[in-house]
Amino acid sequence: MIEQGSGLESYFRRHVRELQPYVPPEALEILARRHGLDPDHVAKLDFNENPYGPSPLVLEALANLRHLHLYPDPVAGELRAEVSDYADVDSDRILVGAGADEIISLLVHLFVEPGDAVLDVTPTYSMYGGVTLQNAGRVVHVPRGDRFEVDVPATLEAMERERVKMVWVCSPNNPTGNLATEAEVLPLLETGVPVVVDEAYHEFSGHTFARFLDKYPNLIIMRTFSKLAGLAGLRVGYVLANEEVIAHANKIKLPFNVTLAGQVAALAALRDRERLRANLQALLSERERMVALLREQGELKPYPSDANFILCEARGGNAKALHAQLAGEGVFVRYFPKPRIDTCLRISVGRPQDTDRLLAAVSRLRPAKEAVRV
Ligand SMILES: Cc1ncc(COP(=O)(O)O)c(C=O)c1O
Repeated sequence: MIEQGSGLESYFRRHVRELQPYVPPEALEILARRHGLDPDHVAKLDFNENPYGPSPLVLEALANLRHLHLYPDPVAGELRAEVSDYADVDSDRILVGAGADEIISLLVHLFVEPGDAVLDVTPTYSMYGGVTLQNAGRVVHVPRGDRFEVDVPATLEAMERERVKMVWVCSPNNPTGNLATEAEVLPLLETGVPVVVDEAYHEFSGHTFARFLDKYPNLIIMRTFSKLAGLAGLRVGYVLANEEVIAHANKIKLPFNVTLAGQVAALAALRDRERLRANLQALLSERERMVALLREQGELKPYPSDANFILCEARGGNAKALHAQLAGEGVFVRYFPKPRIDTCLRISVGRPQDTDRLLAAVSRLRPAKEAVRV
């Protein structure tokens, strides 16, 4: 509830006054303590973080940080050079931001005037719509098809009808886990409208749209160090796009948007490719094990996933209650009260012991649910 009566009411921008307050997720410490649990002994499977954390080289680089009294490099030159090598994209086609979320905000600022339409394909990551509303834009949601694929004819039709200024496609899609195919994305790019492909989870899929950057100047790719690289706490992400998009985006980016710690850590993370590969391998094999165990148990039906999380349909559909019960058992997962997915839980792929804890909690809860059904 926002207090009124300060006399400032008429000064706030109207669309901001009308926005619903954002309810941020609770920090792990608070969440765990609320359930009377030790934060170090819970299964945190709710935000698709990397449970193994970053490379030891990151910790070493952070321990040796110097020059904290100086501002960081505003163009993150050294990090961009390393990203260029990692992504095989020229560094003048790269911009670094304070996490992918800052980049979403930057890109909406770049293209959207008040009243302009921004399209996303739902269910998907909620920040595309949220940031659009923060910028007084309009959100056009196009529902995905039966297998959560992009409905290309419906999307093209909505793009034309609503004169859409930008389109968001998440690949692999959060929270459904599926990749967008080239057959889904290329027709959207053919329209010339800016299309942002959010590749926050691309490493887990082995697929990227980066090779289309030369052909489509309206293709913008966004990635993050918060997932595979294990740096969610330091807030670093990047854009891969045509030089013209990068040049305009640089004009509106805050000069020192990425901290020194963030730049140094991301650089060290990328330089330890072996560690990235090892973490990827561990998470991919755990994904496979988790899917097999969930199928065997039968309480949570997993959808196919190309990411480090799995969307699961709860048997009997009561995902909301199961979500709360699992939290009481120290297993934190995500529930979204949204169309198509309100009978599901999104569960991050964690360490083997996290999967075991999830399955044990689900089977402990099963008798209680069965008793209710009788
Ligand atoms: C699809 C997607 N894009 C962007 C982000 C934001 O990433 P960052 O931590 O870099 O802001 C997330 C985080 O969960 C995400 O799932």
